[in-house]
Amino acid sequence: MAVLVVGGAGYIGSHAARALRRSGYEVILYDNLSTGYQRLAQGFELVIGDIADEAKLRPALARADAVMHFAAHAYVGESVQNPRKYFRNNVEAALSLLNDTLDAGIRRFVFSSTCAVYGVPGKIPITEETPREPVNPYGASKLFFEHALEAYSRAYGLRSARLRYFNAAGADESGEIGELHDPETHLIPLALAAAAPGSAQLQVFGADYPTPDGTCVRDYIHVNDLADAHVRALQHLETGGDSLALNLGTGRGHSVLEVIQAAEAATGCPVRRVMGPRRPGDPPVLVADVAQSQKILGWQATRTLTEIVSSAWVWMQKGSSRSA
Ligand SMILES: NC(=O)c1ccc[n+]([C@@H]2O[C@H](COP(=O)([O-])OP(=O)(O)OC[C@H]3O[C@@H](n4cnc5c(N)ncnc54)[C@H](O)[C@@H]3O)[C@@H](O)[C@H]2O)c1
Repeated sequence: MAVLVVGGAGYIGSHAARALRRSGYEVILYDNLSTGYQRLAQGFELVIGDIADEAKLRPALARADAVMHFAAHAYVGESVQNPRKYFRNNVEAALSLLNDTLDAGIRRFVFSSTCAVYGVPGKIPITEETPREPVNPYGASKLFFEHALEAYSRAYGLRSARLRYFNAAGADESGEIGELHDPETHLIPLALAAAAPGSAQLQVFGADYPTPDGTCVRDYIHVNDLADAHVRALQHLETGGDSLALNLGTGRGHSVLEVIQAAEAATGCPVRRVMGPRRPGDPPVLVADVAQSQKILGWQATRTLTEIVSSAWVWMQKGSSRSA
């Protein structure tokens, strides 16, 4: 069984590709390398192309039995500044991919959604039934695609798993692949970078939230736990399971200060930081209710915050250079 991993030269897609291969799937990567890297695709067949490029995409789809769709623009702040870019790629181009998938006769589709579809939830933990009310164009673009998948499931029998990730973090234990975002906006790599002498200070956005230590609390999930959940989700669809939407997190929250402590423990150096004001639109706490994903997929995230941060540190030390 062959899986087309779209966006497979990116951070999460490259980890999912390895998890699929470990489980016996044939894997083809498809990526335009806009934010992806050849080195994350090493050892795999990589078709370089855009999801909107039908002539490039169709022959790749013709060889696949299922699609995993990771390709998107994913910076919340940029989506507010430049929504056109986000709707063009995450909606318009993504719909083109979806239609080509359907035309190729493929009926299994796994989609990278996000907890950003929930916006600022009224209740924690967040269940799959929490109203989807995104507060930025990035979240809105992902919600649109969820709606498209729901409609295509009803109308055309295209079965999909809409996987709503919380905060993906960490790196493959091999140290060969890991997080490579440019610019990097995620807390764990920024905290680790701020432990290096002479580096820029880590900006902490808000220390007066209604949380135990005043800083924001998030649900950090190791990228390999996330990757394993994708394999389980595909197996669910393969064995005749219905379309579904699932939260992927650990069900445990950690504050910014706890992450900083973990980064200090991993590096043995103080994380230089500056406490700043809150960032507009940042909810105090985002933590997943993971009961459904545990029940339906028989899956549970196993790696702790310490393991997440130490794997990210190994990856950074191995020289996660920005080059291809
Ligand atoms: N990183 C997180 O914590 C997080 C959380 C929630 C959801 N997500 C979602 O997970 C997915 C993967 O995120 P990531 O952190 O690995 O990002 P990433 O930027 O590392 O990976 C995205 C990949 O998609 C490719 N791509 C983008 N647009 C494309 C196009 N039009 N055609 C072909 N390829 C294209 C990029 O080159 C890149 O390799 C995204 O859809 C993102 O919205 C990520």
